[in-house]
Amino acid sequence: MRILGIESSCDETAAAVVADGREILSSVVASQIDVHRKYGGVVPELASREHLRQIVPVVREALEQAKMQLADIDAIGVTEGPGLVGALLVGITYGKTLAAALQKPLVAVNHLEGHVHAVFLEAHKSGPEPKLPAVCLIVSGGHTVLYQVKPDEAHGMFEYRKIGQTRDDAAGEAYDKVAKLLGLGYPGGPVLDRLAAATNGVPAPVKFGSIKTRGNPYDFSFSGLKTAVLYHVREHLEYAQEIRGREEALARGERKFEQLLALCSPQTLALVREFQNAVVRDLVDRTLAAAEELSVESILVSGGVAANSQLRATFEDRARAKGLEVFFPSRALSTDNAAMIAAAAYFRFRAGQFADTSLNADPSLKLA
Ligand code: KG4
Ligand code: ZN
Repeated sequence: MRILGIESSCDETAAAVVADGREILSSVVASQIDVHRKYGGVVPELASREHLRQIVPVVREALEQAKMQLADIDAIGVTEGPGLVGALLVGITYGKTLAAALQKPLVAVNHLEGHVHAVFLEAHKSGPEPKLPAVCLIVSGGHTVLYQVKPDEAHGMFEYRKIGQTRDDAAGEAYDKVAKLLGLGYPGGPVLDRLAAATNGVPAPVKFGSIKTRGNPYDFSFSGLKTAVLYHVREHLEYAQEIRGREEALARGERKFEQLLALCSPQTLALVREFQNAVVRDLVDRTLAAAEELSVESILVSGGVAANSQLRATFEDRARAKGLEVFFPSRALSTDNAAMIAAAAYFRFRAGQFADTSLNADPSLKLA
């Protein structure tokens, strides 16, 4: 069973062919970062336009890499939501048209379920599958949400229950905003990740305590932390000059890690480290607490921020100490891709859940 997956919910146009829900035959991702960079975030109108430009060549390349033709595909899986409505519509319209023209079944996929399947795709490549029940943390630029994942034996799928979610910014959004205010460009996650690792023992210029949220202990909140970084930087005038220096470098196109690192004082590196410590500590604390309360077998972590090296290392250490196994996708499968969409589509297909030509984009589609 070979499924062509199509993903266009945000700023990546992606297509992939996956066999039997677990074997990746090809995976092509066209990132729009260069288009959105100068605006410091994803511009929805530009995203839609880029998807229109990319969708045909990206699908063609995914088929070529899988050494297949359109006629060899058994079904098409496409992201229905959540995401940007105009962006989603490009993939959905393309998927519907392809399905009708080829007379192949169409399957609608929840993007968040895709991120869950990314973990299983990786596990299939490199070792044993995660045991269920599990808690799954999906942590990206658009989402920070915790689910309980159980098997749905009757349908051969997973069953989800939402345990918590962010009340304001997603963790990746906090990374992106902090990078922007420090003059470190867009997206913020990868560069802050590497800068944090470059600190050498300089004490943090400010301490960020643990993040408090009232009510549900598994809810997240990152906007206060971002504001704390902003206030700290505003109150300490010594940052202003180096921030300007980095902004000028970025404007000249000097955005390589080494170039930016050379323009960061030890104090800035220690500040970045302290910010990352606070984010990582919070994500790991809440996820482990949920895992313990629900007595799950494993922890799954997916989404763009799951690429973060400190998050991975901290989860590994602290989960192992509690006798829990933690699973991540590779970095390529952590960020948005279409292999995860094809994988999720396979299980919906087997359960007989098909979409028809009335399929529409749902920007706030819920998984549970
Ligand atoms: O999953 P993704 O590609 O798209 C969304 O659905 O948002 O995630 C992108 C987000 C961005 O906010 C980016 O800054 C963050 O993931 N990110 C990281 C890292 N790599 C990407 N955050 C922290 N550390 C990283 N290494
Ligand atoms: Zn995503």
